[in-house]
Amino acid sequence: MITLNVNGQSHSVDVPADTPLLWVLRDTLGLTGTKFGCGQALCGACTVHVNGAATRACTTPVAAVAGSRITTIEGLSQHSDHPVQKAWLEHDVPQCGYCQSGQIMSAAALLSQNKNPSDADIDAAMSGNICRCGTYNDIRAAIHTAAGLMRKGG
Ligand code: FES
Ligand code: FES
Repeated sequence: MITLNVNGQSHSVDVPADTPLLWVLRDTLGLTGTKFGCGQALCGACTVHVNGAATRACTTPVAAVAGSRITTIEGLSQHSDHPVQKAWLEHDVPQCGYCQSGQIMSAAALLSQNKNPSDADIDAAMSGNICRCGTYNDIRAAIHTAAGLMRKGG
């Protein structure tokens, strides 16, 4: 048994230690907001937070994060009202949507460290998150909006 702390709740899961965290989240815990894209840490669709840091769940063995604080898109905010989520709505960012939970988790991790990122900061933090629909300009604008909301407290 491996004990995980996901979105503030403790879960004991009976899976092999090398199972990717992504499959435990999706298949064992039913948290399907985190997506599978490449399985090789190349696209960012599976991004979650581990102790606040953006982490690719597809290449993270579940045993490596036992005891860590894991946050998925479902746990980012109580009412889908994290500043990044508000800004995403304001800018109408998603197209097909597939990459977007990973994009939002990467953006939220960036803003937890840097409340006033430059375009270069944003590009550096988001470069591992691929969007086949090309929403990059809207993502960048939304991150600036979210940063402004966070500087104002919310
Ligand atoms: S599915 Fe994990 S980075 Fe692509
Ligand atoms: S919104 Fe379609 S892949 Fe990003």
